[in-house]
Amino acid sequence: MPIQFNEKTREFHIFNNHISYIIGILKNGDIEQCYFGKKLRSREGITKRFYQFGPSNAAICPIDSDILFTPTVQRREYPNYGTGDYHFCAYQTEQSNGSRINNFSYRDYCIHKGKDKIPGMPATYGDDVTTLELYMHDETSQTDITLFYHIFDNLPVITRSVRFTQVGDQSINITRALSFCLDLPDSEYEMITLNGAWGRERYIDCSPLHQGIQEVNSNRGISSSEHNPFIALKRKDTNEDNGEAFGFSLLYSGNFTALAEVDSYDKTRVAMGINPFEFSWKLNTGENFYTPEAVLVYSDEGLGGMSQALHSLCQNNIMRGDYKLTRRPVLFNNWEATYFNFDEEKLLKIASSAKELGAELFVLDDGWFGKRDDDTTSLGDWFTDLNKLPNGIGSLGKKVKDLGLKFGLWIEPEMVNEKSKLFREHPDWAIGVPNRKRSYGRHQFVLDFSNPDVIDYIFNLISKVFEESKVDYVKWDMNRYLSDIYSPTLPPNRQKEFFHRYILGFYNLYERFIEKFPHVLFESCASGGSRFDLGLMYYAPQAWTSDDTDGVERLKIQYGTSLIYPIVSMGSHVSAVPNHQILRSTSIDFRANVAMFGAFGYELDPTILSDYDKLKVSQQIAFFKEYGQLFQYGTFIRLKSPFENNNDCAWMVVSEDKKTAIVANFKVLARPNTIKDMIRLKGLNPNFDYATESFVFGGDELMNIGFPLQLEFNEFPQNADQNNSYSHSNNKGDFFSELIVLKAK
Ligand code: GLA
Repeated sequence: MPIQFNEKTREFHIFNNHISYIIGILKNGDIEQCYFGKKLRSREGITKRFYQFGPSNAAICPIDSDILFTPTVQRREYPNYGTGDYHFCAYQTEQSNGSRINNFSYRDYCIHKGKDKIPGMPATYGDDVTTLELYMHDETSQTDITLFYHIFDNLPVITRSVRFTQVGDQSINITRALSFCLDLPDSEYEMITLNGAWGRERYIDCSPLHQGIQEVNSNRGISSSEHNPFIALKRKDTNEDNGEAFGFSLLYSGNFTALAEVDSYDKTRVAMGINPFEFSWKLNTGENFYTPEAVLVYSDEGLGGMSQALHSLCQNNIMRGDYKLTRRPVLFNNWEATYFNFDEEKLLKIASSAKELGAELFVLDDGWFGKRDDDTTSLGDWFTDLNKLPNGIGSLGKKVKDLGLKFGLWIEPEMVNEKSKLFREHPDWAIGVPNRKRSYGRHQFVLDFSNPDVIDYIFNLISKVFEESKVDYVKWDMNRYLSDIYSPTLPPNRQKEFFHRYILGFYNLYERFIEKFPHVLFESCASGGSRFDLGLMYYAPQAWTSDDTDGVERLKIQYGTSLIYPIVSMGSHVSAVPNHQILRSTSIDFRANVAMFGAFGYELDPTILSDYDKLKVSQQIAFFKEYGQLFQYGTFIRLKSPFENNNDCAWMVVSEDKKTAIVANFKVLARPNTIKDMIRLKGLNPNFDYATESFVFGGDELMNIGFPLQLEFNEFPQNADQNNSYSHSNNKGDFFSELIVLKAK
C-alpha cells in the first residue's frame, strides 16, 4: 500500500515513486505536517521533529506542564483558530452559544484502495488511487471532521478535501472551510499566480514570498479571469526543467481564496479553498459539508515537471466522456463570421464551405433563440427564432449533419435578460435583493441557481432543444459576474450560503445534461476564459481560452494557461484579420500555428476568404488531422517564454514513444541584422535520429547543441505555395512563425 501507518511513531507515510507526504499525530491529538517533497525511504521514526519548540515561554500552549509545546510554531495540517496559532486558520465554526473556537483531535483512520466521489461536486477519480481518511472530533461542539488524502500510483500528486459532520444536537455555522493547508519549513520561494482580465487571461506573475499574507481570490461568483485558482511556489533558481516547485489548484468554479503566509520564523503556510468572504454554511445534526478537492503537486523537475503532472491528472483523472483522450473535432464557429446577423441560408453556406475545407463540426453561436438580434434581449427564452431559422433548429441541425458535419450549439443557461418572457414570468428567478434595483452586466441578470426550481426549468427547456437539434457539441457560456447577492428561497441566516449553492446548482445542471446526453462534447466559456478551472474540466473537457483570438495575444494566454491546463483543454481558433479584439493583422499561418496547440478550430467566414487563404486553411486542417493527437495529447514542453522579452516564444510537443515531435517557434517583431537562434530541444530520445523535411539531427545533438530556428524557412521559403503541402512557416517579417516536425528515423 502506498500509505503506511507507523503505530510506534504515530506517523502516516503517503508515498509513491515520486513523492512522500508525511504527517504525524501530536500528543494533543492535532495533526502535524512533517514532510512533503521528493520520495523518502520508509524508515521507522523517519521524521525527527526539528522545528523550534517554544520560542518564548509566553507562547500559548495546550498543556500547562509543557510550555514548549505550542501551536504557535508547529506545522499543522488543518489548523484551527483560537488556541495559540495566530496564522490564518483553515476553518472556523460558530456554535449555538456564539463561540467560534474549535479544537479537533485525532480519533482514528482508514486506508483503502480507490476514492469516493464528492457529493454534488467534481472530483478526481481513477483505478490507481489510494485514500487515507483521518477522523477528527471536537468534543465541545460535537462536530466531526474527516481529512481525506489521495495518492495516485504514478503522479507526484496528492489531493485533499475535508468533510464536516455535525453529530451533536445543536447546529453549527461553518464560516470558513478551506480544502487544505500545508505548512512548509522555510520561505525561500517565489510565488507564481495567473492573473489578468477579459482578453488577457492567465498572465504569469512571479514574485518572492515575504513576511505576511499574500493572496489571490475571487468574490465574483466564478473562478474569474482576474485570478485563476492556482498558486505555484518555486525556488529562486527553479526553471522549466530543474529545481523544486509546488503547484496547488482547486477543483472548484466558484469564489476561492489561494493564499500563502510567511511568519516570523520564516515558515510558509499555503492554503486554498472556498473564499470565506460572504460564506457560511449552517450544518444541522447528521448533515455533512464537503469542501472542494484540492490538488498538491511536487516537482523536482522544474515548472515543466509540475505542469506535466497537472496535465496528466487533468486528462486521465478529471476529464470524462467520449472525448477523454480523443482528438477533438476541428470546428467552425459562426460568431465572428456573422455575430447576430444570420439566417439559415447564410449558416448553411458557411457550414458547407467549412466542410469543403475539411471542418468536422459546425457550431452555431449566440443569436438563434427568442428575438436575439443583439445582446439586450431573450436570454432565458430558449425557443428557436423562427424569423432567422423558419424551419426550426432541428432542421438546421439535420442539414448541417447531412453535409457530413457534426452540429454544435451555443447556450448561456445561467442568464436571463430583463427583456425576456422568462423574466416577465419569473422576475424572482433573477438574483437580486427585494426592493433594490439590480445591477446589469452585458444587459443581463444571473439566474438564481441556488433555487432547484430554476435548475429544473432550464434543464427541461434546454433538453428539448438538444433533443430537437441532436447536438453533438455545446458551448456553455456565462457572460457576467454575480452581483446583488440574495435568494428569496433562503432564510436570512442562510443567505451567505448563496455563492456555494449557486455553484452546486450549476454542477447539478451540468451533471444532469451529461447523464442525459452522454455523447455531447461540452466546451465551457465565460466571456472567453473567465471560468477556466479544474472543477469545470470534470464536466466540460475543453474551455474557450479567451475572446482574444489574436495570434500574438494568444501566445501569452496559452503559455500561461499551460502552467496548469493541458493543451487539449484550450479552445483556440483562427479568426479573421484585422483581429476583432485588437485590430492586429497577422498571416493565416501565424494564427493557425498558435491555434493548433489547442482544441483547434476557426472563427471566421470561410465563404469570403481569398483563394490563397482557403488553400492555406485546407492545408492547415489536413495537417492538423494528421498530427492532432500529438498536438493535443503529446507531452507539452515550454521552450521560450513570451513573458521574458515579449518578442519570442517557443514550445514543443513530443509523442509518448518520443518518435515524433513538433516544435513551434514564434517571433513577434522582426529585427535586422541577426543570426539564427539556436534552441535546445527537450524531451527527445538522445539515441534517436530525427529527420525534418530536409535534415537529420541526433536527438542528443538537438537537446545539447540545439536546433537552428528558421532553418527550414530560410532555405526553402517557397514550398507551401509551389506544391500543395502546408509549409508550417509563414512569410518573413513581423509575426514570424514556424512549425518543425521531427520524426525518428
Ligand atoms: C461571449 C463568448 C463569445 C461569444 C459571445 C456570444 O463573449 O466568449 O465567444 O460566444 O459571448 O454572445
